[in-house]
Amino acid sequence: MIAWLKFLHIAALLFWCGGLLLLPLLLARADNPVRAGEAARMRIFAHFAYNFCVSPAAVVATIAGGSLLFARWVFEPWMFVKLVQIGALVVLHTYLGHCVARLGEAGYVRPAVPPALMLGAGLAIMGAILVTVLAKPHLDAAMMPDWLRQPLNRQLLLPPAPSR
Ligand code: HEM
Repeated sequence: MIAWLKFLHIAALLFWCGGLLLLPLLLARADNPVRAGEAARMRIFAHFAYNFCVSPAAVVATIAGGSLLFARWVFEPWMFVKLVQIGALVVLHTYLGHCVARLGEAGYVRPAVPPALMLGAGLAIMGAILVTVLAKPHLDAAMMPDWLRQPLNRQLLLPPAPSR
């Protein structure tokens, strides 16, 4: 079961991460189409890739990763570092979606962040995640601030009882 989840996780990651690297290249190319009709084909391809391949792959990778988290019970400090790094990847994913939508709706609009920088950021984040997940560095929980390590003995807020 765990082996299948890991297989699904990594297979989906190939499409997700591959797409996040391909889309900046497409955006860079869309700035300078060389053949007639190329810009329109690129818009359609970028939309199709983002909506029907990269985003669904991100969902599958996250569901499989989340299931692995509970199946293997890896609630360890390095995993929280990985989750923060994944947050950065999600920001990049969302920004690329914004650029792809502008490409379709407004013709080519040069993104505020240059595509080469998006590509570099994607590679850096993916590399950092791989280092974290493969090296699984031992991080001491004592590095966390006190308020994260000690119970605060506060009551949960309960909704008011329904009046009869
Ligand atoms: C989307 C949210 C993600 C979640 C919740 C998640 C969670 C997990 C979990 C729980 C494991 C199993 C760890 C273990 O068996 O010790 C795992 C394995 C792995 N993840 Fe993720 N992950 C996510 C995204 C990613 C991303 C974006 C990458 C790479 C860019 C990645 C790369 C890997 C790799 C390579 C493994 C296999 C590690 C091994 O077997 O030692 N994951 N992931």
